Amino acid sequence: MNTRSILTFVMVSLVALSACDQDVMMSEKGVRLPDGDVQAGREAFLYMQCNQCHTIKGEQLPGIPGQDPPYVELGGDVTQVKTYGQLITAIINPSHKLATGYAKEVVSEDDESKMYVYNDHMTVKELIDLVMFLQPHYNVLPPSFRYPVYP
Ligand code: HEC
Repeated sequence: MNTRSILTFVMVSLVALSACDQDVMMSEKGVRLPDGDVQAGREAFLYMQCNQCHTIKGEQLPGIPGQDPPYVELGGDVTQVKTYGQLITAIINPSHKLATGYAKEVVSEDDESKMYVYNDHMTVKELIDLVMFLQPHYNVLPPSFRYPVYP
């Protein structure tokens, strides 16, 4: 390799590195919280008033007087696994990926989720318990796979 091709190699590597998807580098996939307490998670869900905007498939939750009815259902059939990684992300970084299946204007404003950010108030324990409570409500369906058509 002469100096020029080394330089080209370095440049190409740098470009490839910077193009590297930030989501991959900051992936939530490897996150593993300690096991939480389902009942405490349910209680946290209620005293933090998550039920102001959310119902949960298969759970009877009280409504909040004087508030509009909740409009985003949590749990139920999903084709994508709601791992704790994804749930944690949805809770502490709501705008990262908006819930699918809703019109954008229903769940967001200027590309920001309408969900409150609780990060200054929620303890890690509350987060752990909330995720423990929520995760079993997701029923993961096998993704529908389409075989590619070859000419
Ligand atoms: C003011 C309304 C509001 C409140 C209160 C609220 N959320 Fe949300 N939440 C939303 C909206 C709107 C979405 C859909 C947009 C998005 O994905 O952020 C959402 C999405 C979510 C999702 C992802 C759902 C999916 O299918 O991807 C989870 C999990 C969630 N919220 C949990 C909570 C928890 C736990 C609390 C209480 C600590 C809470 N939310 C409080 C409005 C709210």
